[in-house]
Amino acid sequence: MNLKRLDKIIALNCNVSRKEARKLIKDAAVQVNGRPVMRAEELIDVDADEINVNGYNFTLKEHVYIMLHKPRGVISATRDPQKETVVDIIPDALKRRSLFPAGRLDRDTTGLLIITDDGAFCHQIMSPSHHVYKTYEAILSFPIYDEDIRKLEEGIVLDDGTECLPAKVKAFTKDGLPAAEIKIREGKYHQVKRMFAAVGNKVEQLHRSQIGSLRLDPSLAEGECRELTEEEKELVFSDELN
Ligand code: URA
Repeated sequence: MNLKRLDKIIALNCNVSRKEARKLIKDAAVQVNGRPVMRAEELIDVDADEINVNGYNFTLKEHVYIMLHKPRGVISATRDPQKETVVDIIPDALKRRSLFPAGRLDRDTTGLLIITDDGAFCHQIMSPSHHVYKTYEAILSFPIYDEDIRKLEEGIVLDDGTECLPAKVKAFTKDGLPAAEIKIREGKYHQVKRMFAAVGNKVEQLHRSQIGSLRLDPSLAEGECRELTEEEKELVFSDELN
């Protein structure tokens, strides 16, 4: 059993405030397993109970986990007075009040971003101690040499003295351009761009393809998103593909 207060569950699942949820309950708009419930503090089993609000049935979820193919030009923030954010582009059907991106991608970076309202999940992805590798594909200005790969894999020191944890790097070419796949388990500001800068290179384009063993769904075009399955949520914390 996963018991939660009725007003909290209504607020989370119906995209309303706690105050609005309490009003809906008081106005007898809420039924639990087919019977009206008028107490906001009633405990609901999120995994088993059925809730109906104003005639609509809700599949209860304590949290949502969304895979977004982040497009270029959108910022990794919850809200911004001027610029479009990754939360702004989530369709209404998936929107919740307290969604935020689990980590940041630069405005010009594309690729896999998880949007959630689960703070503990987000912390696990971002904290280096949890060893969740994030995989990026970088198109570079210059070919990368074995010596550069060795430095990045040993743990490069950035130009301002910041020490990075060891990365995993593979060189390749994409459409004839020099490129590298790099896996890191930290999220320092502009980290990948600064790591390549520290070996005298320059990132021209950056794309995140994977978090842990979770790959970006290739059927999602830039700007598209969908909910993660339970199996996919687990892949985030598995290092099978790393
Ligand atoms: N590193 C960067 O430099 N930019 C990103 O968006 C992500 C990682």
